[in-house]
Amino acid sequence: MTGVQGGGTPGARGQGTAGRVALVGGGPGPLDLLTVRALRLLRAADVVIADRLGPAAEIRAELRPGALVIDVGKTPGHHPVPQDRIGTLLVEHARAGRAVVRLKGGDPFVLGRGGEEVLACRAAGIEVEVVPGISSALAVPQAADVPVTHRGVAAGVHVVSGHDAAGPHGPSVATLAALADDTLTTVVLMGVGALPALVGAALAHGVPGERPVAIVENGHTPRQRTTRTTLERAVRAAEEAQVRSPAVIVIGEVARPGLLGAEPPALEEEPAVLGAGVLAGAPVGLPAVPLAPPAAPRAPSVASLAPTVGSADASALVTGLSATGPGA
Ligand SMILES: C[S@@+](CC[C@H](N)C(=O)[O-])C[C@H]1O[C@@H](n2cnc3c(N)ncnc32)[C@H](O)[C@@H]1O
Repeated sequence: MTGVQGGGTPGARGQGTAGRVALVGGGPGPLDLLTVRALRLLRAADVVIADRLGPAAEIRAELRPGALVIDVGKTPGHHPVPQDRIGTLLVEHARAGRAVVRLKGGDPFVLGRGGEEVLACRAAGIEVEVVPGISSALAVPQAADVPVTHRGVAAGVHVVSGHDAAGPHGPSVATLAALADDTLTTVVLMGVGALPALVGAALAHGVPGERPVAIVENGHTPRQRTTRTTLERAVRAAEEAQVRSPAVIVIGEVARPGLLGAEPPALEEEPAVLGAGVLAGAPVGLPAVPLAPPAAPRAPSVASLAPTVGSADASALVTGLSATGPGA
């Protein structure tokens, strides 16, 4: 179902005048992570066709009175508005002479099907501009204190969709090579459902089980939560922490706890879930576990840090932000 909010028929920029489409990257969520150009285009838009992720809710107050907002948001495995219908909507509104913004989460050209929308517009002779956005592939790890590259630790990043691992042939050769290379970081978007397949394939390929993993849910939002674990424990840790999409999975040495020193403390105490081997939350002002000294390349794994909090079976460290934390 397409959700439509806004005042009736949107305005047009003069009869007979061709409209235009801007494919705008909305960043990971907060309004103030939009670019200045994105905000300018949104404020001038007659029609905004928005995704579920990104700042779709927050931008309403910025729009012109009477601007039409069409929600084509997708949830994992559930596509309310098919991609070809989105293309048709863009073309129809632009042909009616309207300034159309297609607001997408993150960056339009990073696993966002933005290229298909550009092709749909160009095939119809509609002028289309692409405005880059801050991609969750980089910004969501950053929100959890994970730099996707770090001197002496990781010199490159492989960004991949979880669908790469979930297919009948498993992860691509390139993904397996990236996972096996301890100088590279692998960042997986749309990977929650694919985690068991990805982990199984990586371990079968010989990737060390103690490779650090960070799973960051709802990055840059008040609901941000990070589960730190290792490759061999990641599936169990994700189940026990009930990890849900949207999440970015980071696999590599940069995901090791304490790489940048103590993480900013969670401001609210969270319940500890110890029975299942998951360590959660920390009292106000304290890191969740005594963390290793910063940034020694090839330093101890999460598994080797875990016993310092008193559980030899600890498989993960889960930390979150309160509503007053960054991104709130
Ligand atoms: C269809 S992809 C779109 C990616 C987008 N084009 C980008 O550059 O960020 C959607 C996936 O991005 C990731 N994602 C986007 N925003 C996120 C957020 N705030 N927190 C965690 N993951 C996010 C999740 O992996 C989600 O399943």
